[in-house]
Amino acid sequence: MSTLLDVQGLTKQFVKDDTGIVALRDFNLQVEKGSFVTILGRSGCGKSTALNLLSGLIRPTSGTVTYHGSPITGPRTEISYLTQSDTLMPWRDVRRNIEMPMEISGAPAQERRARAMDLIERVGLTGFERHYPRELSGGMRRRVSLARMLVGDPETLLMDEPFGALDAQLRTDLQAELLRLWQDSGQTVVFVTHDIEEALLLGDRVVVLGLRGRCVLDREIDLPRPRDPDELRVESNFVALHREMTEALRKGAR
Ligand SMILES: Nc1ncnc2c1ncn2[C@@H]1O[C@H](COP(=O)(O)OP(=O)(O)OP(=O)(O)O)[C@@H](O)[C@H]1O
Ligand SMILES: [Mg+2]
Repeated sequence: MSTLLDVQGLTKQFVKDDTGIVALRDFNLQVEKGSFVTILGRSGCGKSTALNLLSGLIRPTSGTVTYHGSPITGPRTEISYLTQSDTLMPWRDVRRNIEMPMEISGAPAQERRARAMDLIERVGLTGFERHYPRELSGGMRRRVSLARMLVGDPETLLMDEPFGALDAQLRTDLQAELLRLWQDSGQTVVFVTHDIEEALLLGDRVVVLGLRGRCVLDREIDLPRPRDPDELRVESNFVALHREMTEALRKGAR
């Protein structure tokens, strides 16, 4: 395996009313091509800031992000980013929102439509193709965003708490669907969450962040796949890992 994303000494300082706020300090991360890395951390520890930097959406105060060995200086088409807040186009209906990345890359209409319809079904939105974002619930909008991020078959997916606001059953369904789509796709995923169970269920590796993005634990997760959440919860391996993560989060808050 080779390093796809290489983050070195990343620091981001925001300025608000003449006061500097350090959101991330000296953050390092190497992501192997094809791996599923989950970043776990409490609210405010700098997770979204880290993804914004990785995606090229914002520029660091210092440090570098390289992708395939070349520096990231702005958003790239190979990297698809599902942000924490909604970025659907209010004037486009569900199907046309989902088709958008393929439109940008110039895919033919028929292919776009077929791919969008397949994803609409996978995220459970059949029948809502012609609805506009304002006519959907929050959870439905998240699912549209998820479908839109997957539609163009990007090389790398950056996901910021995509399932946080969903009900438990729907979250379980979409986690399974995401794993199904990821498996054998060769795609690289960096997935942010504050939920230990989600981090363990999804990741090949969990990186636990403390305040200002300090890495408190970087752990390979050698649980076999496919992972069934109900079976996993009672496995001794899982219970031990869960305990380790809880302790790391506690340590990170100090
Ligand atoms: N644009 C900004 N201007 C000023 N401060 C900011 C800005 N963006 C983030 N911050 C600060 O940086 C810190 C980290 O924020 P960030 O959004 O990265 O946290 P997070 O880990 O994603 O939290 P959550 O889990 O709640 O989404 C916070 O203290 C926040 O107030
Ligand atoms: Mg966040």
